[in-house]
Amino acid sequence: MNEANLSVDDIFNLATRYHKNGGYENAEVLYKKILEVLPKHYQSLCHLGLLAKQQRKYRVAVQYFYKAIEADKSYMEGYHNLGELLKEIGQYQKSVDFYLKAIQINPKSAATYNSLAVVFKKLGQYQKSIESYLAAIDIDPNHEQAHYNLGILLSEVNRPEKALDHYYKAIKINPDNVHSYQNLNVLMRESLFNMKEIDQVKIEELLLFLFKGNNIDHTSVFPFVKSVLFSEIIKIIWGKNVLLENNTIQDFLNNELIHLILQKSLICDLAVESLLMIIRKEFLLEASNKRWDLVEKKSNFIFSLAEQCFLNEYVYYQTEQEINLVNKLRARLENNSNINELGLAILGCYIPLSSSEIITDQLLNYQSKSSLFKEIITTQFHEPLEENRLKKLIKPLGKITNTISKRVKVQYEVNPYPRWKHSSKGVSINFWDLLSKEIEPNKTTIENFSSTNIQVLVAGCGTGKHIVRAKDYRNSEVTGIDLSLNSLAYAKRKTDKLGYKNIQYVQADILNLDELDKTFDVIECAGVLHHMETPTEGLEILVNLLRPNGFMKIGLYSEIARKNLLGVRNFAKQERFSSTVESIRMFRKSISDSNLKNRISSSSDFYSVSSVRDLIFHEQEHRFTLSQIMEILNKFGLEFLGFTLSKKIKMMYSERFPEDHKQVSLKNWHQFEKENPTTFAGMYTFWLRKKAK
Ligand SMILES: C[S@@+](CC[C@H](N)C(=O)[O-])C[C@H]1O[C@@H](n2cnc3c(N)ncnc32)[C@H](O)[C@@H]1O
Repeated sequence: MNEANLSVDDIFNLATRYHKNGGYENAEVLYKKILEVLPKHYQSLCHLGLLAKQQRKYRVAVQYFYKAIEADKSYMEGYHNLGELLKEIGQYQKSVDFYLKAIQINPKSAATYNSLAVVFKKLGQYQKSIESYLAAIDIDPNHEQAHYNLGILLSEVNRPEKALDHYYKAIKINPDNVHSYQNLNVLMRESLFNMKEIDQVKIEELLLFLFKGNNIDHTSVFPFVKSVLFSEIIKIIWGKNVLLENNTIQDFLNNELIHLILQKSLICDLAVESLLMIIRKEFLLEASNKRWDLVEKKSNFIFSLAEQCFLNEYVYYQTEQEINLVNKLRARLENNSNINELGLAILGCYIPLSSSEIITDQLLNYQSKSSLFKEIITTQFHEPLEENRLKKLIKPLGKITNTISKRVKVQYEVNPYPRWKHSSKGVSINFWDLLSKEIEPNKTTIENFSSTNIQVLVAGCGTGKHIVRAKDYRNSEVTGIDLSLNSLAYAKRKTDKLGYKNIQYVQADILNLDELDKTFDVIECAGVLHHMETPTEGLEILVNLLRPNGFMKIGLYSEIARKNLLGVRNFAKQERFSSTVESIRMFRKSISDSNLKNRISSSSDFYSVSSVRDLIFHEQEHRFTLSQIMEILNKFGLEFLGFTLSKKIKMMYSERFPEDHKQVSLKNWHQFEKENPTTFAGMYTFWLRKKAK
């Protein structure tokens, strides 16, 4: 192209096109050409500033932006871009001045208000930051970034109701905004008891949206769901006047959101469970009396209840009368060559349909018109078949010979745990960013840590819930190992479905991992070592697989946090309950009728067979105190980097031990735990680094 014949506007357009497409050198030449003719062409000056910024030549960039605004004092973009640059290089106060100037010239720039809000937040001026975000949203109600950023800020300043609102708006504007889903999920889990000004209608709308989708871990938000949705029905249930004709209960049976909750989240509440059991029995009686007309009206609820019962692995107690009726119903359905979907769904509320070979044959190739019944067929037949196929693709490593490992393996072959349906979708994240966030307020340096091809080992990956979190590290390859082939097949099915390609599964005992012939940059092992015969033996093997300066995330049970469970375990032992499904049902009934109920009913692990087995009937469980952990870390030359805990707990700790700025004193944490015994109710989960020799 002959530029000599082009106008200034044409050359500027051409330069901008080069600029956009990465042709920086050509763009620079053309911008400068314009300046030879028109030295005050402020757009070219500004674009040269942007080019310099892109090349990290910050001083040059600042000069160009200044020249641009000198050339035209009303050039709004010049002020905005100078503000952006100063923000990027950490000169926050100065950047505020330029943003304000830009706003003076153009009070309708949502982008400038959003940037200004970001800087106010950096400066700790939260109220001004909130006002600026709101101004951005006022100008552009669909400003996704402003809604998302405001959500974060409002949750940090403890205004969770408003934060929920803005995350929800961000998701509605961009349904693929994975970060908003993740933050929303965390906010619901952590801020439940701080929410005072809940707008019931809005919250139900939000929950319906979240439960129609598959982008969060629905069980993890159950306590929130319970608090906003179930209080009235729980009052009725405890009032002992559960009449199915009651309007509230009828609404419950017909409510789409309740159906979705039953399909996707474990119901972790004894009162609601008892209602579901009453309703289940009622449907069974009606089916036994062939009152299909009555049942038909509630088909969506019944299909959903069947999903719930499969999800909790049939943990609900069944009376003798019910067991007899179920056997009869099963025989009737097996002898009926026509598929009776409702009858099968009611049967599916009591037993897995795949436990009948005849029904399996009937349903494997059956095409239902109902999407809910199709889902039952998928979860009860097609997914287990898929897992059987995948098992053949998972290679074993070494022989499992340790007696405890063998027993633990049997447990997780029969009851893979944790079973899960959906989780927050991951986004590719820089491992370093994640680590820095999780160990806050501590900081660590990155020495000899490669950021490409990061090798991650998830030892004892179980059913893949843990892997789903670890596989998001950018440029990483993940190896997941576990004793249990059934758990690994479950994990592989889930991660294949989510489209994750960077995962290799191996069936192995941690004790055999030295045969792997591979080392790792990151090793994660949560909820596993305490199930080994000698946890330190397992840890030593993992430490040997960790590269120098590598990082390790460990999860171990706390002696203090699990103290409450000991009484429950003793009760189970005294009463001779065992880990079979029938015995677990009896155990749950007995404990629910006893004064030990409150020690266990608040744990979500009380609400499915595999989790009760994991919680109460484990083949092997060690628990630790922080003093013991301190000793172990010293022995293996591991540096403690910090716990992964909610911001709220870290704030409480910093008020209690303000002098421990990095929050790494395990001695202080031990004291803190004694004063707040539920701090590590899940586990101690913490990051470590191998000290360089
Ligand atoms: C409670 S589950 C935790 C699963 C997973 N880490 C998570 O957080 O979702 C414990 C897992 O550790 C596995 N496990 C226990 N001992 C092990 C060993 N010696 N070697 C390999 N895996 C083991 C079990 O098979 C089981 O899947």
